Amino acid sequence: MLVAGKVALITGAAGEIGAAIARQLMEGGARVALADKNIEGLREIAGGIGGDATCHECDVSDEQSMKLTVEAAEMAHGRLDIGVLNAGISAPRTPLEEVDVTTYDRIMAVNARGVFLGLKHLFPALKRQGGGSIVVTASTEGLRGNAGLAAYAASKHAAVALSKTAAIEWAQHNIRVNCINPGPVDTAMIRALEQASRQAGTADVRERGVSIIPMKRFATAEEIAKFVRFLTSDDASYSTGATYLLDGGMLAGKMALDKF
Ligand SMILES: NC(=O)c1ccc[n+]([C@@H]2O[C@H](COP(=O)([O-])OP(=O)(O)OC[C@H]3O[C@@H](n4cnc5c(N)ncnc54)[C@H](O)[C@@H]3O)[C@@H](O)[C@H]2O)c1
Repeated sequence: MLVAGKVALITGAAGEIGAAIARQLMEGGARVALADKNIEGLREIAGGIGGDATCHECDVSDEQSMKLTVEAAEMAHGRLDIGVLNAGISAPRTPLEEVDVTTYDRIMAVNARGVFLGLKHLFPALKRQGGGSIVVTASTEGLRGNAGLAAYAASKHAAVALSKTAAIEWAQHNIRVNCINPGPVDTAMIRALEQASRQAGTADVRERGVSIIPMKRFATAEEIAKFVRFLTSDDASYSTGATYLLDGGMLAGKMALDKF
């Protein structure tokens, strides 16, 4: 699973999944450009992983910001071979009829438009290298509806559609585009939802989540990152346009209610 000599731009790299992806890619021999809205968080991550990681303050929902980030990363490292479009936001569970337009637009702007802009502006940089690999962090909610998560599910379905479309358009340029679809991962995002559900007195997020996961636990950020390292490496050379569930078996089917 070598990514040696390659340069990767990772968005949402101040978050736990993004930071784990940066560490995995660096361990595989890649150089990394870390992008996030949270520049302080990025600097901490970069300090922790060492090497010549560069930090880029970026709002993925803003076209100019995304474009400048890709250009700055390419300029800093001399090339770009890998893009990991991982920045994302969620919101506490809310019935669809109560979701306000501002929240809906905010989630779509980051999770859907952000992926569109990332793909659009990575394309010329990867094409210049004669090819590359892009991984989009979607979610199990990119493949199914989920009560209370209308905007998030809509945004992650859009992310899946965008990555499949890019894969078809860019296979001719040797650019592979795949989507990962994690179930719950033990990170700040899930912990924030847990806290919100506790405050609202609704069902416990972890208990409810684990009860429908055959493996009976959430993923770690490291498990997600190792898969991304594989997908971005040349070992995954025939994979493009695919969606990969990383969900402990959650979407494989309904679990038995009792022992049998
Ligand atoms: N944690 C989970 O259970 C889970 C499950 C499935 C999918 N995901 C997806 O994985 C990705 C990473 O999630 P995480 O759990 O590491 O969350 P996180 O909240 O720890 O990290 C997300 C990062 O994205 C950054 N970000 C948010 N908006 C941004 C913007 N407009 N521009 C640039 N950066 C921005 C944040 O600053 C943060 O550092 C997200 O796309 C999320 O939807 C997470």
